[in-house]
Amino acid sequence: AATTRYEAEAAVCTGTIDSDWTGYSGSGFCNGTNASGAYAQFTVNAATAGTATLNVRFANGTTTARPASLIVNGTTVQTPSFEGTGAWSTWVTKTLTVTLNAGSNTIRLSPTTAAGLPNLDYLDV
Ligand code: GCU
Repeated sequence: AATTRYEAEAAVCTGTIDSDWTGYSGSGFCNGTNASGAYAQFTVNAATAGTATLNVRFANGTTTARPASLIVNGTTVQTPSFEGTGAWSTWVTKTLTVTLNAGSNTIRLSPTTAAGLPNLDYLDV
């Protein structure tokens, strides 16, 4: 199926939408507050119920991975860890697999440590 891109600057970002590191798509990226429980939340439409592939584009300019709960429609389904990418301007894509409902879904990434989220560029679904 076709991929839809959900830009982080159009999502709910508890933090700031920044553009001070190069290489992002669209007009900026979500720099979530560096605190456990901050989040970026995307509202994603699925044509049909079932398995969906998420490609999360992020940058983590630290050398410490940043784990985050992946919360789909209110339920934590996994805790991916967003590794250091070498620089805040180096963006990589992490592929995650989730189950979605037909129609509207909420997909939230919420850090489990006080380090917070990596910078988030977009979610491709
Ligand atoms: C730096 C960087 C931000 C990043 C932050 C962080 O301040 O400029 O883009 O979000 O570190 O540690 O999360």
